Amino acid sequence: MANDTNIFAELIAHCKEYGYIFQSSEIYDGLSAVYDYGQNGAQLKKNIRDYWWKSMTQLQDNIVGIDAAIFMHPTTWKASGHVDNFSDPMVDNKDSNKRYRVDHLIEGYAEALPEIDAKAVLVAMDALLAKDDYAGLKKLIEDNKIKCAISKTCNWTDVRQFNLMFSTAFGATAAENEGDNIVYLRPETAQGIFVNFLNVQKTGRMKIPFGIAQTGKAFRNEIVARQFIFRMREFEQMEMQFFIRPGSQMEWFNYWKAERKSWHESLGIPAEKLRFHNHIKLAHYADAALDIEFEFPFGWKELEGIHSRTDFDLTQHQTYSKKKLQYFDNDLNEQGKPIGNYVPYVVETSVGLDRLFLTIMSLAYNQEKWIKEDGTEDSRVVLKIPAKIAPTKLAILPLIKKDGLPEIARSLLDDCKGSFMCFYEEKDAIGKRYRRMDAIGTPFCVTIDHQTKEDNTVTIRYRDTMLQERIALADVKKLVLEKTTW
Ligand code: GAP
Repeated sequence: MANDTNIFAELIAHCKEYGYIFQSSEIYDGLSAVYDYGQNGAQLKKNIRDYWWKSMTQLQDNIVGIDAAIFMHPTTWKASGHVDNFSDPMVDNKDSNKRYRVDHLIEGYAEALPEIDAKAVLVAMDALLAKDDYAGLKKLIEDNKIKCAISKTCNWTDVRQFNLMFSTAFGATAAENEGDNIVYLRPETAQGIFVNFLNVQKTGRMKIPFGIAQTGKAFRNEIVARQFIFRMREFEQMEMQFFIRPGSQMEWFNYWKAERKSWHESLGIPAEKLRFHNHIKLAHYADAALDIEFEFPFGWKELEGIHSRTDFDLTQHQTYSKKKLQYFDNDLNEQGKPIGNYVPYVVETSVGLDRLFLTIMSLAYNQEKWIKEDGTEDSRVVLKIPAKIAPTKLAILPLIKKDGLPEIARSLLDDCKGSFMCFYEEKDAIGKRYRRMDAIGTPFCVTIDHQTKEDNTVTIRYRDTMLQERIALADVKKLVLEKTTW
């Protein structure tokens, strides 16, 4: 684990050094749990998002995508239960005034215990959380003498609830009408789908079962925001609400459970690094829920949630808006009559884009060492990002900056750059340029040398194996397209 911790710190440094992720507002010493994606990070994030979007919309017969606004009518959040229920039990240390989410405080403590003791503490915590037993949670913290990381004391307040939604004021008269104009920054994208359920169903003439997918920013005032981009205050979700007949929810819950796990595997995540975790304490809207967990360098943690949300959200919006949110089912029942009107049930899949980014980076980051033919040691740091989502697909490298080689290279660049992301570089020794492309995660490098002028062939180098072979210049684009198109 200590080794994993070092590797994780090195991965974070690597993300910064190679233009993947920067601390937000770094020149002002940063903003806690907020991150910016750099030139390579933004492209990788877009590629992951596009891969999800295509799998969830284009490749499905009955799922469409929307893009709802971040701001929503404030009643949305009253109806959804977020105003009253979207809170976590918190505890403050009286000496440092630092506030902790109770589950994170206890989990952090358990991480340092032997496995058997850690399990006992976590089982006790889960049982108390399931009963909302705050006095019991405080006692568990005190009995285990869990200390504040800053004051190093065990002097705790009572455990209390703390709402995680950010709010802001809306419109020019905000200051005069304080309170009336409060809007929230959405804590999940799902509600933008629920309030548009009928708009999409009617305009798209959708028949149940059907889904609505969406990607976009969500905001949560996380108290303990740790582990890099794992838990952020501003993050991005990729969610899909699947509208179904009441009573069929377990069938669809199991369907999406299997589908989503195999989708993650299609991104190169090994099956043994993924597992299911059933929720004991269900959210206020769910009748079944599970997480797909990934084994991050800091342990098994939630990557995606699959929730059977019943008809809770649509019924709530129907009540608060006084507008019918029902579906007329034309299919015939056993008596040969249309099934008629009902409020659909919903199974949701919800994955954090940033968390999936971290998953892919933790798997991709490799430090390799080997002995060369002359007996000396060599090493490299390589990002083995799956070629289909790598930010740059092809590096085009003229061996030297003269003799007409840059002209041939630039002509290849012009031919390829409309089809996929390319990188052109003519400075430094070729070995150094290959290493830089390994560190950025570029799966293919093509070198144009003097032989190219004679026989129109180039050297292609494969990132993962470092193998090099000679291929026709005219075949480069086709080869890269074959290996990266999905
Ligand atoms: N609509 C359901 C929903 O929002 P959730 O389990 O709270 O459910 C879904 O969140 C996913 O969003 C999580 O599995 C995680 O990947 C991601 N996520 C949640 N909070 C996050 C945070 N603070 N930072 C980064 N990702 C987060």
